[in-house]
Amino acid sequence: MSLYQIMYISTVVGTVTPQQCAAIAQLSAINNQRDDVTGLLLFNSRRFLQVLEGPKAAVDRIFARIHADPRHRAVVKLREGPIATREFGQWAMAYDDPARPSDSLKNTVAALLEQAGPSTRAHFTGSADLHRPAA
Ligand SMILES: Cc1cc2nc3c(=O)[nH]c(=O)nc-3n(C[C@H](O)[C@H](O)[C@H](O)COP(=O)(O)O)c2cc1C
Repeated sequence: MSLYQIMYISTVVGTVTPQQCAAIAQLSAINNQRDDVTGLLLFNSRRFLQVLEGPKAAVDRIFARIHADPRHRAVVKLREGPIATREFGQWAMAYDDPARPSDSLKNTVAALLEQAGPSTRAHFTGSADLHRPAA
């Protein structure tokens, strides 16, 4: 079956706690696995950056749900189109978790990007780099 990929960026509305991130991650893992959709959701406390990849109908359907989610705004597609192979073999989410302070977001993201191409890698490492932990 042919594969389709969407990459978008958005801005968080209000504050999203690590608990809320975990809830989004948990629900997404269940939904996306059911729909054969993989990818990465990165949250750096200001912005979301997400890649969704899988069968086009499923990717479009999930993106439409996400786009309507009031927890973020200014959802902008950075890239969209057919892909030959998946850049992410499974669903993953990376976000700041004060409970794991030694686990830097940058390192987590780097590990998740092992199979990703240079353009995707640049988007995600750039976004993880932008993060400045609160003093
Ligand atoms: C930044 C962000 C990314 C999300 N990513 C996904 C995702 O990959 N898969 C998913 O099923 N829901 C994701 N959600 C949650 C959806 O927006 C939505 O709340 C969820 O799919 C449940 O939809 P429903 O209430 O219409 O069933 C995300 C939400 C946000 C704010």
